[in-house]
Amino acid sequence: MRRVVCKELGDPADLLIEDVPPLDPAAPGRVVVDVKAAGVNFVDALFVRGKYQIKPQPPFTPGGEVAGIVRDGGDGVTGFTPGDRVIASCGLGAFAEQVDVAESSLYPLPGDIDFATGATLVQSYATALFSLERRTQLRSGEWVLVLGAGGGVGRACIDVARHLGGRAIGVASSVEKRRAATEAGAFATIDPTTEDVKTRARELSHGGVDVVVDPVGGSLAEPALRALRTYGRYLVIGFAAGEIPRLPTNQILLNNRSVIGVDWGAWGMQNPDDNRALVDEAVRLVAEGELHPAKPTVFPLERAGDVLGDLEQRRIVGKVVLEP
Ligand SMILES: NC(=O)c1ccc[n+]([C@@H]2O[C@H](COP(=O)([O-])OP(=O)(O)OC[C@H]3O[C@@H](n4cnc5c(N)ncnc54)[C@H](OP(=O)(O)O)[C@@H]3O)[C@@H](O)[C@H]2O)c1
Repeated sequence: MRRVVCKELGDPADLLIEDVPPLDPAAPGRVVVDVKAAGVNFVDALFVRGKYQIKPQPPFTPGGEVAGIVRDGGDGVTGFTPGDRVIASCGLGAFAEQVDVAESSLYPLPGDIDFATGATLVQSYATALFSLERRTQLRSGEWVLVLGAGGGVGRACIDVARHLGGRAIGVASSVEKRRAATEAGAFATIDPTTEDVKTRARELSHGGVDVVVDPVGGSLAEPALRALRTYGRYLVIGFAAGEIPRLPTNQILLNNRSVIGVDWGAWGMQNPDDNRALVDEAVRLVAEGELHPAKPTVFPLERAGDVLGDLEQRRIVGKVVLEP
């Protein structure tokens, strides 16, 4: 079977394709899945560059989420049988024709969700639900300022905010990304390259937003914090801009604001049952038409390096999947 391999940490352009023996039969407690689509996330690029908090040693196959069909279950696997449609959050290994995952990482994929969409659900939507339902409880009518609104997490947060009755304002750097934010349900968008984010967000929300969703960091963080009204909550999700911002704490004290950390991955490992319920909720809401993930752009497996490069260069709108 073919797989993408990272032989040396660094530029995703150096990723290779190699042919290796099939992964089945599965080991005890493990499930071998024939990959139909692998979701591409910013964190995959961080793994390849060796810049993520977890640093796998090369050689390894990147790819943290997948949709496919169960080929084989090892001894002790009781919940899945060959032929089942599944999605999984697997950390690594998904950029391949087959992936080997723990049974505990697998979720059933309903027939009304296609494989490409299924491969993009877990990371973005679990993070969005965890952020807006668990780390803060977004209330109907609240204003949510979403940075990186045309990216995976940002767009999903707009969709979830809309679902919860919130009014999202999307901040994104290109016309295409702002259009994607609007299609996801944003009430309004802001172009940070030409508009003052704090002033415009305050105008649009008639005085200040209730929640900031920040998967980007960098120079937009402080204006976003200053856009919060009294009791506003600032959700720290990620640092796609590459710079971890230093927020002025007087701006947290003023107006009794709160800064809230969001680490869905660690929470999921510490609370596997709660995480299973969260992912099942995301899948159910998509299947029922309550949430609307974007239709992903599809590339062949061989383009993994290009796609990760495009992600790093901010050229990707919405989500991308690789199909073997
Ligand atoms: N805490 C958690 O539990 C959790 C879970 C999932 C993901 N994350 C993190 O969330 C962040 C976003 O993930 P994602 O999948 O949404 O990524 P994404 O799809 O690539 O979107 C990130 C957005 O960040 C903006 N950006 C600004 N400067 C950038 C730069 N130098 N390089 C790349 N993007 C830049 C871009 O929007 P503009 O062009 O509009 O500025 C881009 O659309 C990542 O850091 C990821 O590790 C955290």
